[in-house]
Amino acid sequence: MHEILVLYYSRYGATAEMAQRIARGIEEIEGCQARIRTVPPVSATCEATASDIPDDGPLYAGIDDLRECAGLALGSPTRFGNMAAPLKYFLDGTSSLWLGGALIGKPAAVFTSTSSMHGGQETTLISMMLPLFHHGMLVMGLPYSETGLLSTQTGGTPYGPSHTAGPESNRPLSEEEKQLCRALGKRLAETVVKMQAGTGH
Ligand SMILES: Cc1cc2nc3c(=O)[nH]c(=O)nc-3n(C[C@H](O)[C@H](O)[C@H](O)COP(=O)(O)O)c2cc1C
Repeated sequence: MHEILVLYYSRYGATAEMAQRIARGIEEIEGCQARIRTVPPVSATCEATASDIPDDGPLYAGIDDLRECAGLALGSPTRFGNMAAPLKYFLDGTSSLWLGGALIGKPAAVFTSTSSMHGGQETTLISMMLPLFHHGMLVMGLPYSETGLLSTQTGGTPYGPSHTAGPESNRPLSEEEKQLCRALGKRLAETVVKMQAGTGH
């Protein structure tokens, strides 16, 4: 079974829902399983104050989740046109993986949610790609054969799925946004399967 890590931060739930839909797309591909993980909020006192296990939802990610995964979908809400600090904080703790080249050659993709239509979805997606390139991951987006990219009136980009959650951060995912999340999960999983077949794993 190929395990693909779906790693995200979400405060109001939109990015979390996207993660669930990407995970479902992954599990539509035979032989692939999604491992869903999140990261804790960062502490203003610079010391960890939260429990190691969240009160609800997925477990917090550890370095081994990244080391063990066959592929990665990384998601964050947009914060001032960038990824959220808790996810950046987690990624900043992955130097040991970088030193050992543990993520080189693994396929990866990114997703985000904003409140406003032009509030920085693409910049956030790209901000998440940058550390993945440093890790040597094979970063992929969505092709325009996914027709939702052309018909969407809200989120959805060739750089990765996105959602426009509205000023109250409570707008549900549109049909296109849902479809593009699912398509990304499937694409990532299909790529993992093809690559692992090529290496005989
Ligand atoms: C500190 C902060 C900065 C934000 N910056 C942006 C932004 O630059 N553009 C935008 O459209 N929304 C911005 N938002 C709104 C979130 O991106 C939006 O509510 C998102 O859907 C939340 O995702 P979540 O439900 O997964 O937490 C910001 C929210 C916070 C708290």
